[in-house]
Amino acid sequence: MLTPARLLALGLATTLALLSACSKSPAPAAGTPAAPAKIKLGFLVKQPEEPWFQYEWKGADKAAAQYGFEVIKIGVPDGEKTLAAIDSLAANGAQGFVICTPDVRLGPAIHAKAKAAGLKVITVDDRFVGADGKFLEEVPYLGMSASKIGQLSGQTIAAEMAKRGWAAADTAACIVTFEELDTARERTDGVIGALKAAGFPADRIYKAPQKTTDIPGSFDAANALLAQKTGVKHWLVAGMNDTATLGAVRATEGNGFKAPDVIGVGINGTDCLDELRKPAPTGFFGSIYASAPTEGFKTTEMLYLWVKENKVPALDTRVDGKPITRENFEQLLKSEGIL
Ligand code: GLA
Repeated sequence: MLTPARLLALGLATTLALLSACSKSPAPAAGTPAAPAKIKLGFLVKQPEEPWFQYEWKGADKAAAQYGFEVIKIGVPDGEKTLAAIDSLAANGAQGFVICTPDVRLGPAIHAKAKAAGLKVITVDDRFVGADGKFLEEVPYLGMSASKIGQLSGQTIAAEMAKRGWAAADTAACIVTFEELDTARERTDGVIGALKAAGFPADRIYKAPQKTTDIPGSFDAANALLAQKTGVKHWLVAGMNDTATLGAVRATEGNGFKAPDVIGVGINGTDCLDELRKPAPTGFFGSIYASAPTEGFKTTEMLYLWVKENKVPALDTRVDGKPITRENFEQLLKSEGIL
């Protein structure tokens, strides 16, 4: 029961507890600065709908959690949105950004705008190109070892073709290209080089230029080629990424080719997971996996250290790839922390 004496004792105890709490964490003296605000960094990507870029963002989030900075993720599908995103980053107090630009020719404009706003820039995947057609080498870049990864794609296709025992005379290669983008051209040149090196006849390798770098773009490109080339029994299919190969594989299906007559190999390894999980194999045989989370982590880490400690990043950093198929992708992607 609460007697007046007990109430008094309780009141005293509360007062003492409050006093001791106050003495443990004194109120900040007037004029003491608050905890420093987190460094803010942007991460701008051209195709936010592509799993590749979502995995890059995941990697950036991991770096942000580890180092204690904030990452502002923005999709920039065109030039206008890119320039607006830079304005918004500057207005929000960001100190730099990583970007995969929707158009490499916007590089000089993006770089100039960032400089004027006092923002540091690192490019990922697609490298800025100047008005003279040369890379803007002063802007740090991290991306795929494009030729090597392309060669790996070509070698994977050639090895599978040998395994299936196809005659070159019955076979043709449909290479979906996007040559205006350097990394894309280097990859598909790598594929073609490896096919030729494996003895595949150069005159049975056909390029199908895609107008847009999405499934409809590669589907249309491959469809136009397949309609022209009659008398082919088996198709080899490749492109600059999973999306390019997927669209072309869909086109082979639409033109009546069955899965066992198609060997399609992509690049990225992130945008083909649903395809590789389909219960029955399709013409999409596999991909060359490169680590998007690592690219996202590394670029934001480099940018953070540049902003925080003035540690200037390397100007050109490359990542390699590993072949994946239906058989090994779950295991490899689990060990990479993707699945
Ligand atoms: C380009 C492609 C992406 C991905 C990256 C990897 O940006 O559009 O799908 O392949 O390169 O560097």
